[in-house]
Amino acid sequence: MDKIVIRGGRRLAGTVTASGSKNAALPVLVSALLADGPCTYDNVPDLRDIHSTVELLRHLGATADFAGNRVVVDPGGFCNPEAPYDLVRKMRASILVLGPILARLGRARVSLPGGCAIGARPINLHLKALARLGADIRLEHGYVTASCPRLKGADITFDIPTVGGTENLLMAAALAEGVTTLRNAAREPEIVALADALNAMGAHITGAGTATIEIQGVEALKAASQTIIADRIETGTYMVAAALTGGDVKIEGCRPDHLEAVIDKLRLTGTAVETGGDWMRVRGAPVPRGVDIKTQPYPGFPTDMQAQFMVLAAVASGSSVISETIFENRFIHVSELRRLGADIVVSGNTAVVKGQNRLSGAPVMATDLRASASLVLAGLVAEGTTEINRVYHLDRGYEDLEGKLAGLGADIRRVPAGG
Ligand code: EPU
Repeated sequence: MDKIVIRGGRRLAGTVTASGSKNAALPVLVSALLADGPCTYDNVPDLRDIHSTVELLRHLGATADFAGNRVVVDPGGFCNPEAPYDLVRKMRASILVLGPILARLGRARVSLPGGCAIGARPINLHLKALARLGADIRLEHGYVTASCPRLKGADITFDIPTVGGTENLLMAAALAEGVTTLRNAAREPEIVALADALNAMGAHITGAGTATIEIQGVEALKAASQTIIADRIETGTYMVAAALTGGDVKIEGCRPDHLEAVIDKLRLTGTAVETGGDWMRVRGAPVPRGVDIKTQPYPGFPTDMQAQFMVLAAVASGSSVISETIFENRFIHVSELRRLGADIVVSGNTAVVKGQNRLSGAPVMATDLRASASLVLAGLVAEGTTEINRVYHLDRGYEDLEGKLAGLGADIRRVPAGG
């Protein structure tokens, strides 16, 4: 497998452009299954998870072409109700096809995704809500089987806000008979992006971005085009890279309005953040100050930025307390960061990080996307060489990570397998 090798100590400076959002693109591409003609999506990031989605759409019978940053999905041949284990195990987000397959074909058979490195990640809330729309749901042989000739609108309150659950329900309810109200819905920008894509296809969805979403079901949805929003987590990762290295980085094509919690925390570390409509300039302090973080559903501080902030805390002055409230096992990076010299003590869902004035490079690896990103960030400031293995995870979620960081002056290169 490829690895990434970084020689730390370079200050990052220059301009980088944000890519399209992975987590917005995944449900939006899947939503094409609901259309009655070909849908075109631009600004789609060239990532392993997007290729897996394209493969899944093709397996279901749709035509999907990915060229440049454009994906065209033609659901004309979509008739297969089954998403098999081999495809779902590659990417948990495959569960997002459950709602659209059921709404369109009246039955679906989708492999249960199982857990992943960061937690058990059940889908009970997706299933409970689909059952409220009238679906007959069964779990057998590792698969979810759902059937219902036509879903019926219902008033549904989620026990906790779930991003994937809200997305699955938006897509299922868009073609249901009558009105569906989702309460305690997730409010992430990716939910708004999906609602916008569905509304462009003729859906009637209001309230996306708030905790209560109303969906007036329609008989059919038409083909439409959509441009994928900027990736707020990729943007946040470059913000931390700038802050960590005492750098001066402008990020273009981004959405500062989706990153308010991250910007607020970064400013508390002494980092200067200037924002415009679609750009940001981030200037790091000579030594950042420690800051306490508690992950929360949007608009709170994102769990997907927790690992990256832990690296900042690891080299900051003073101590930081980092609490992870979304996933039960999202401190996988801690033991690897300790190998680089970080002083981190974990108790339950809380990590206490005592800032050090130096980290030292070493070979490391992680089993999760954001944990891997945090190791790259640590490598940027560690003395000597850091070698990140299992680059596979980074390729799932960061478009041209090493090219973008090298463009900002980092000493980083990818060594192909066997190289
Ligand atoms: N949950 C349940 N039951 C469910 C659904 C969720 O208990 O039926 C729990 C989860 O276990 C978790 C919490 O609810 O404790 C929130 O999970 P959510 O459903 O919101 O997460 P998700 O849809 O599986 C998406 C992102 C994640 C991101 C989370 C939280 C995608 C494809 N994935 O996951 O992104 O961390 O929301 O913001 O959109 C990443 O990009 O690295 C990543 C993991």
